[in-house]
Amino acid sequence: MEPVDLAVSALHPSVDDPALNSMNFLNEVAQHYPDAVSLAAGRPYEEFFDSAVLHEHLDAFRRHLADDLGLSRAQVDRALLQYGRTKGIVHHLIARNLAVDERLTVDPEAIVVTVGCQEAMFLVLRALRAGPRDVLLAVAPTYVGLTGAARLVDLPVRPVGGGPDGIDLADLRAQVHRARAEGLRPRACYVMPDFANPSGVRMDLAQRRRLLDLAAEEDLLLIEDNPYGLFPAAGAERLPTLKALDTRRRVVYLGSFAKTVLPGARVGYVVADQRVAGSDGTVGPLADQLAKIKSMVTVNTSPVSQAVIGGALLAHDCSLVAATARERAAYARNLRHLADGLARRFPAGGPVRWNVPAGGFFVVVTVPFGVDDALLHRSAREYGVLWTPMAHFYDAGAPVNALRLSVSAVTPEEIDVGLDRLAALITDELAAVGAPA
Ligand SMILES: Cc1ncc(COP(=O)(O)O)c(C=O)c1O
Repeated sequence: MEPVDLAVSALHPSVDDPALNSMNFLNEVAQHYPDAVSLAAGRPYEEFFDSAVLHEHLDAFRRHLADDLGLSRAQVDRALLQYGRTKGIVHHLIARNLAVDERLTVDPEAIVVTVGCQEAMFLVLRALRAGPRDVLLAVAPTYVGLTGAARLVDLPVRPVGGGPDGIDLADLRAQVHRARAEGLRPRACYVMPDFANPSGVRMDLAQRRRLLDLAAEEDLLLIEDNPYGLFPAAGAERLPTLKALDTRRRVVYLGSFAKTVLPGARVGYVVADQRVAGSDGTVGPLADQLAKIKSMVTVNTSPVSQAVIGGALLAHDCSLVAATARERAAYARNLRHLADGLARRFPAGGPVRWNVPAGGFFVVVTVPFGVDDALLHRSAREYGVLWTPMAHFYDAGAPVNALRLSVSAVTPEEIDVGLDRLAALITDELAAVGAPA
């Protein structure tokens, strides 16, 4: 054994937590088997990537600062090249985007532009975790980035049943009551109402309203994460976000430009319009408190990255619905292709089941055998196909008989090859456990 200078047990417990190892593990497996078809990656489609547009976006944003906002040449340069406003410089364009695409009116001052949605998640959880009695509720299965961010701030995450409606409201109420009976303080419930990662499930309109009512009755905040809402399947309608339906300031809304513009810019945001009375007696949006935390984490989001996103927004009159027409068509096509491909390879009523989401990137396949990291390794090595064990999205670490497939970063041809390989693996596993194919 090599000599060590620091024991991992002497570091913050999060660094040795499975939630923080999950993304690295999955990336490493993918790197280890570069020839495997990846139905694992939740990255956006690369066919439409074109780095030449970066310059166009930057120029569009510079023109916007000069022509629309009346900044001088020196002020434009300062805005792009200097340290900047902690809450960001494209907040007004994000507010316009939300008005145009989501019919959501927000005060730009209630927006903090962040280094990806991931930072937004961290800021919100850091702010809400005020003491050791605080807990977070989250629909299970949940996004591993949320669990990891909660670990960083020592905020325990308690699962709430998801199910076909997106959230089991009776269980949510029961979890709130149980936590309070234990002397704990549930600070918020994290939800992904639109095509959740990993379940693909979305909440219907009535369920959204019921969830908002329950949050008001139980005096609970909701953290709404919405990276996939612009990608309904062909023929499916978009639904209003929880935040657009929220008349009681119950919802903290997390946004990401990773899937709608480009992930490399690393820009996301949080809308936090909850009123907070400061110790000096002034009242302002929660966003102001989040900005204080941000100032000590990333200081401000790169203005160059923000300018790229700002320019991309301006190119389509701040409508990302308009900007993402090609991507939406590609994801819808792939989702259809995957669902049809599964139906062709696995008989209806058989032991292999899957959901057919109304949009987004992800489908969950349920099988009658354990699905763990060892099986993923074997799948990659012997069958040449990658997917994600669903156990990564549950906090308990218990084995789960399901895997997540993603359609976002593959072509229909790759989906066919990947499904052939997956079918071979599943057939062999079914034979091994003695289940009929
Ligand atoms: C549900 C969910 N939230 C947040 C993120 C992270 O977004 P960003 O890349 O903007 O940090 C992802 C990325 O896959 C996600 O699936």
